[in-house]
Amino acid sequence: MDAAGVNDPLAVVAAAGDECRARIRAAESAEALASARSAALGREGRLQALMELLKSAAREVRPALGVALNALKNELTELAAERALALGSVASGVVSEDITLPPTTLSRGSLHPLTRTERRVVQVLKGLGFSVTDGPEVEDEFHNFVALNIPPSHPAREPADNFYLAGVPYLLRSQTSTVQIRTMETQQLPLRVCAPGRVFRPDEVDATHHYMFHQVEGLAVDEGLSMADLKGTLLLFFRGLFGADVELRLRPSFFPFTEPSAEVDVRFPGRGWVEIGGCGMVNPAVFAAVGIDANRWSGFAFGLGLERLAMRHCSVPDIRHFTENDVRFLRQLA
Ligand code: DAH
Repeated sequence: MDAAGVNDPLAVVAAAGDECRARIRAAESAEALASARSAALGREGRLQALMELLKSAAREVRPALGVALNALKNELTELAAERALALGSVASGVVSEDITLPPTTLSRGSLHPLTRTERRVVQVLKGLGFSVTDGPEVEDEFHNFVALNIPPSHPAREPADNFYLAGVPYLLRSQTSTVQIRTMETQQLPLRVCAPGRVFRPDEVDATHHYMFHQVEGLAVDEGLSMADLKGTLLLFFRGLFGADVELRLRPSFFPFTEPSAEVDVRFPGRGWVEIGGCGMVNPAVFAAVGIDANRWSGFAFGLGLERLAMRHCSVPDIRHFTENDVRFLRQLA
């Protein structure tokens, strides 16, 4: 112990206390904390060394010095325990474990970007009066094709373009439009539903294609619905999802289950048009298949690709990222 220590041992204790405190507080890992703790409180540690002061100190300062050392020891012990809790480490001997405390380092998972996109899509559609429904992923040909006015000769029914099940008249649905039929078979009119879900097509996998992807189907059936209702609904939907800047374009097209039909494109300021899905007025042939009077009722429908929406939404360049389960990708979008 130096001369100053002998002259003012309380000041030495105070200075050592400051140092030990700072080191414990600065510990960023269980290991750093363990070494800070033992440097302060261990057998060869600072406090033990300070005890030597008791022997050399003047008789009249000894009681105060004893109290100060004791207080510092208790304080540092507590501080180390608190720090251990904060670090989530119950390093052996640092704290006695209190099993009633909640864990401090529970690492939380996060929702998959597609799940988040789907929830957001559904939330916006609900705000526009659509209720949520779904249908089976394993479908029969009636719901996937026949009732949707897709005749047996249509190329969309080719075995090479679908996942038909062997030996039974079912397939993995190739579109969520199947849910239009299931809804009209079971629900009262008027109706407004949306149906997010998975669909399957034996496409070559690349940056924009996958054999499994998601769509959200929309269907409204009421008296007097027109293309204006369809376009207004889609515009409000995209604005709700992407903000007021987004532009919508309907491009004339053909789908067997809608007439007229259109492709749905969206554009953000300064970017190009992107095709997001298809839409149209429900074809009277579809109404006929489910026994709805097309003279009284009219309807509009749309089917949008959820991955396409999510890729725009989250700037994801490659559709394969969604199914690779690489946590580095998932964490970036968490
Ligand atoms: N089912 C179509 C597809 O998978 C998309 C689609 C087009 C859905 C027009 C619709 C619609 O509801 O009206 O390519």
